[in-house]
Amino acid sequence: MAIRNIVKIGDPILRKTSRSVLNFDEKLHILLEDMKDTLHKAQGVGLAAPQVGILRRVCIVELDEDEGVIELINPVIVEEKGEQHEVEGCLSIPDESGITVRPMYVKVKAQNRYGDTVFYEGEGLKARAFCHEIDHLNGILYKDRLEK
Ligand code: CO
Repeated sequence: MAIRNIVKIGDPILRKTSRSVLNFDEKLHILLEDMKDTLHKAQGVGLAAPQVGILRRVCIVELDEDEGVIELINPVIVEEKGEQHEVEGCLSIPDESGITVRPMYVKVKAQNRYGDTVFYEGEGLKARAFCHEIDHLNGILYKDRLEK
């Protein structure tokens, strides 16, 4: 396990579209473990693979220790409801924050580290975190979603 470097805004990798994960192998598991360590060190709530320089559709979210780290591989938002306007920040954009417009509720379909299909639901902060991390896989940053 290792701490990886978090890519900062201005690096073109943050604007690229990540490719789907096809192999649920040891390499993926190492990436997930490293991302977990990196997220803990940075004390964030979520991290996407492009933020550590890997253009693969992988992201993690951790909102409370009880639930632990949610691993999302090839995630897709399949349902959303409502709207929220709340403060958001990003580990790739240090010392800044802004109010974004996000759905209040989302349902995410993804795969786990073994390739099984999994579903997660989130409201409020959790919905924001899912949307924020999935956006990273499409080269979108929270600054693109700021309230007008
Ligand atoms: Co971010």
